[in-house]
Amino acid sequence: MSSPSEMPATILVTGGAGFIGANFVLQAVADGHTVINLDKLTYAGNLDTLASLKSDPRHVFVQGDIGDRELIAGLLTRHRPHAVVNFAAESHVDRSIDGPAAFIETNVVGTLGLLESARNYWLTLEGQAREAFRFLHVSTDEVYGSLGAEGSFTESTPYAPNSPYSASKAASDHLVRAFHHTYGLPTLTTNCSNNYGPFQFPEKLIPLIVQKALAGEALPVYGDGLNIRDWLHVGDHCRAIRAVLARGRVAETYNVGGNAERENITVVRTICGLLDQHGALASGKPRESLITFVKDRPGHDRRYAIDSSKLQRELDWRPQETFESGIAATVGWYLDNQPWVQRVLDGSYRMERLGT
Ligand SMILES: NC(=O)c1ccc[n+]([C@@H]2O[C@H](COP(=O)([O-])OP(=O)(O)OC[C@H]3O[C@@H](n4cnc5c(N)ncnc54)[C@H](O)[C@@H]3O)[C@@H](O)[C@H]2O)c1
Repeated sequence: MSSPSEMPATILVTGGAGFIGANFVLQAVADGHTVINLDKLTYAGNLDTLASLKSDPRHVFVQGDIGDRELIAGLLTRHRPHAVVNFAAESHVDRSIDGPAAFIETNVVGTLGLLESARNYWLTLEGQAREAFRFLHVSTDEVYGSLGAEGSFTESTPYAPNSPYSASKAASDHLVRAFHHTYGLPTLTTNCSNNYGPFQFPEKLIPLIVQKALAGEALPVYGDGLNIRDWLHVGDHCRAIRAVLARGRVAETYNVGGNAERENITVVRTICGLLDQHGALASGKPRESLITFVKDRPGHDRRYAIDSSKLQRELDWRPQETFESGIAATVGWYLDNQPWVQRVLDGSYRMERLGT
């Protein structure tokens, strides 16, 4: 069985200053690949995450928009990548409730621009280079909608997106599919569950709760806290993407999950317990006492669960982290990297509650 290091040598990564994209860039460069990293640096993009690559010639950072055809065409012609991996997106569900237009602009119109640029470039390639080129699109399990108590999403589950975010991701997935079926572009799509791990922007559940629990602030939990998500460690996710890029079958989609379904309230309690072990609150109370149930997010999907057996069977991938090992390591990472968090928070985001 071949390894993810067999993935293409030069890769154009979009959104590589965001949470998952940056983790992917760090893995890929460490593995000897060259990455051209195109990122618009929205509020979610942060070059601090890539500080360790500052003087590494295998990482070329370019600030720009995935929808900028002229810029992308220039990058593709100059760097001649073997693959494009599209992480760039507006990614926060709550923000999509407050302002869906930016999600359509980047996730749908932007992805279309990127697909067109990639197709034009791919048509200029010949022989083995054309054969080997890949366009990998990173998507979400949220496109499948919500589950009841039983079952899990497979690659053949019909799309039923419920939020403006998931609707925009669903639209982009359909465009990727269409670019293969209509034009023959060699595409791959991955649909993953909730990621967590180092360098996640502190508006998402796990880093948000870590920060608030450290500060002794109220810990907001939507509704009854019993919504269930599958949690995938970002390192496992990036390894999955590398396996799909190296050995995935063209035009296929692959689900990626962590085998770690947890109720939101359990995630929050686990973080509280880990932080209490690290040091007590000034009040002496356990951090669980900070949990505050707040009005539910509109249209909040009840349960997601993902069946990643296709990826396991075909590409021999499995998650290396359990939820327990991954969350302990992640909480430890946030404790050790508070300067990173503080610099991120100096930007536009102030831990306000969005999407009400
Ligand atoms: N985080 C998750 O749990 C999760 C789960 C499933 C799928 N995904 C998908 O994975 C991808 C990465 O997610 P993330 O959590 O790292 O997101 P993120 O919000 O942390 O990062 C997104 C990055 O894209 C950049 N960007 C935004 N608009 C752009 C544009 N028009 N042109 C170029 N760059 C742009 C931002 O500056 C940022 O660096 C997204 O496509 C998201 O839909 C994420």
